[in-house]
Amino acid sequence: MAHNLINFTAAVLLCVGVCSAAEARTRSYSVSNGIGRSLVSESSSDSICNSMVQPQGYVCQEHKVTTEDGYILTMQRIPVSRSSKRADKPPVLLQHGLMMDAVTWVLNSPDQSLAFILADNGYDVWLANSRGTNSSLAHTSLSPSDPAYWEWSWDELVAYDLPAMFQHIHGATGQKFHYVGHSLGTLIALAAFSKQELFGMLRSAALLSPIAYVNQISSPLAKSAADIFLGEQLYWLGLHEFEPKGEAVGKLLNDFCNQPGINCSNLMNIMTGPNCCINSSTMNVFLEHEPQATATKNMIHLAQMIRMGTVAMYDYGNEDDNMSHYGQSTPPAYNMTSIPNDFPLYLSYGGKDALSDVKDVQVLLNCLKDHNGDKLVVQYRDDYAHADFVFGFNAHEVIYDPLMAFFRLH
Ligand SMILES: *[C@@H]1O[C@H](CO)[C@@H](O)[C@H](O)[C@H]1NC(C)=O
Ligand SMILES: *[C@@H]1O[C@H](CO)[C@@H](O)[C@H](O)[C@H]1NC(C)=O
Ligand SMILES: *[C@@H]1O[C@H](CO)[C@@H](O)[C@H](O)[C@H]1NC(C)=O
Ligand SMILES: *[C@@H]1O[C@H](CO)[C@@H](O)[C@H](O)[C@H]1NC(C)=O
Ligand SMILES: *[C@@H]1O[C@H](CO)[C@@H](O)[C@H](O)[C@H]1NC(C)=O
Repeated sequence: MAHNLINFTAAVLLCVGVCSAAEARTRSYSVSNGIGRSLVSESSSDSICNSMVQPQGYVCQEHKVTTEDGYILTMQRIPVSRSSKRADKPPVLLQHGLMMDAVTWVLNSPDQSLAFILADNGYDVWLANSRGTNSSLAHTSLSPSDPAYWEWSWDELVAYDLPAMFQHIHGATGQKFHYVGHSLGTLIALAAFSKQELFGMLRSAALLSPIAYVNQISSPLAKSAADIFLGEQLYWLGLHEFEPKGEAVGKLLNDFCNQPGINCSNLMNIMTGPNCCINSSTMNVFLEHEPQATATKNMIHLAQMIRMGTVAMYDYGNEDDNMSHYGQSTPPAYNMTSIPNDFPLYLSYGGKDALSDVKDVQVLLNCLKDHNGDKLVVQYRDDYAHADFVFGFNAHEVIYDPLMAFFRLH
């Protein structure tokens, strides 16, 4: 990975407009929105704004936020529609899933990709990039080649990444906003809400392929990976960065694919379930940009959840270490029942999803059974698997139209 290309100069809340032609417009827009300390500067020509958003005809800004533990995250913002209409609806934050980044939301055509559809419908669209992804590799003192850089699991996305991004959007726009998460992007939001955090800045949250309980997961690759991670935890912990295109993961995949009865000709489907509605041209663009690296510790944390069936913090594996991290011998649980009953939630899940399994989603829905009826919309789509929700050529009609109807109510 080209870690050394990363520019570490960006400090606190640096707002960088990366639009070349649209630069002047971007600047005046930022200023008129009262974003403090905004700077417009050159950015690498291969940023997500430059390579994926502007070519489709949209204004795109990059905003940098620094988390309390020093990670410098980049967010893309699309504040104007294709027809140059300034957003007149609230902001929406789109949070990608595991081994993905903001490209998730801009991979298809403008009529098929959620970020563009929202911008064209008048929303002020913000795209998250979690720590460790290509746009968010910078840190105030660490480099991705330091093992300490990868010393995190999704607990830290809940505790640091989400709050930093939420506060930035809230501060920049002065508005409460909507949240859309896919996959791990749903788990971290649910975990924050369960601690009574963050929803104060939100109008609503839409959770696509919701992940919370994962012990009934049907993906053979995820199950097999979970066993390998827990069985060889020390080996994997020696590899702090989990690099899907790296050698160690290649070997893992190779071993997996050589098992009898496993056909890896379509790895995406092996991992996520038989996606009904993904165009092969979409897959080609996907493979140019994804998958992204994550922390090995994050993978082990997810493996613990598959094994244990709990939604809890990372298990350090022995009483003393748990005690020193948490002040108790077992990792604290995230209590899904304590998500506030009056917070507007939209959940959309699919019958063919191998990661967000129907049986696991039922367990989550059972935790939400006391949710106010008019604050919970649950949508089930029989033919959808995990990636259809973000890459499906028909997701616009199937998922995004009802989702926007839900936003309009909140
Ligand atoms: C694996 O699946 C592909 C596509 O479904 C098929 O063309 C191929 O023959 C299969 N390979 C084996 C070894 O079954
Ligand atoms: C799949 O992609 C091709 C090329 O972009 C396009 O012509 C075709 O209409 C797409 N199919 C669907 C169902 O969107
Ligand atoms: C990651 O970012 C670098 C530099 O911005 C770029 O050259 C590279 O193409 C990106 N990689 C992927 C997989 O998107
Ligand atoms: C933390 O410590 C315990 C006791 O040593 C250990 O069995 C476990 O792996 C950790 N978590 C739990 C759930 O006990
Ligand atoms: C989870 O939260 C619910 C509702 O606040 C509460 O009744 C329940 O006791 C909690 N469960 C645990 C294990 O703390």
